[in-house]
Amino acid sequence: MKIGILASGSGTNLQAIIDAIDKGDIKNAEIAVVISNKKTAFALERARKNGIKDIYLNKNDYKDRLEYDKKIVEILKEEKVELVILAGYLKWITEYFVETYKNKIMNIHPSLLPSFKGLHGIEQAYEYGVKVTGVTVHFVDETEDGGPIILQEEVRIEENDTLESVEEKIHKVEHRLYPKAIDLYIKNKILLEGRKVRIVN
Ligand code: GRF
Repeated sequence: MKIGILASGSGTNLQAIIDAIDKGDIKNAEIAVVISNKKTAFALERARKNGIKDIYLNKNDYKDRLEYDKKIVEILKEEKVELVILAGYLKWITEYFVETYKNKIMNIHPSLLPSFKGLHGIEQAYEYGVKVTGVTVHFVDETEDGGPIILQEEVRIEENDTLESVEEKIHKVEHRLYPKAIDLYIKNKILLEGRKVRIVN
């Protein structure tokens, strides 16, 4: 199965997915393309280093978000992508994109959704003082961080934790959970019933 990955930042999740494919933890998958809205995203560099096609799309070259997403969809179709992975992609995707790849777009979020949606999930959970936070992998719908939840795993915040140590714990879980969700998807083990996901054996 061909995967398309969208990323805006350092791409440690992208790297975890590349490594999982190399190790055989994700089977029958190939990353066809990595696309970024940020020219300097280290994710693009990681793609290049691993011989994966990388594309930077400047939003200023497009009339609006729809035209931008049409270009992305065009690339994904050209590359015969069947699963789209948002890995730290900091751009709001349009309904057109969501509908075109309905239930075929995944995102990872660094909190236990629906708590602490948005861009600062780790920090907000830490500042709020919750004892348990975590990681969520979910399908993307037209709402913010609101699509059906595929996998969640908790991370405990201990009294001696700092924001940095919580971030570290969260990222470690992310790098295991995202490849797992992708592998389940490829094996056709993710069943969607309404907004509930059932993982079949
Ligand atoms: C991760 O924490 C992910 O949960 C969030 O964005 C961050 C991306 O990190 N959506 P990286 O670029 O994969 O290192």
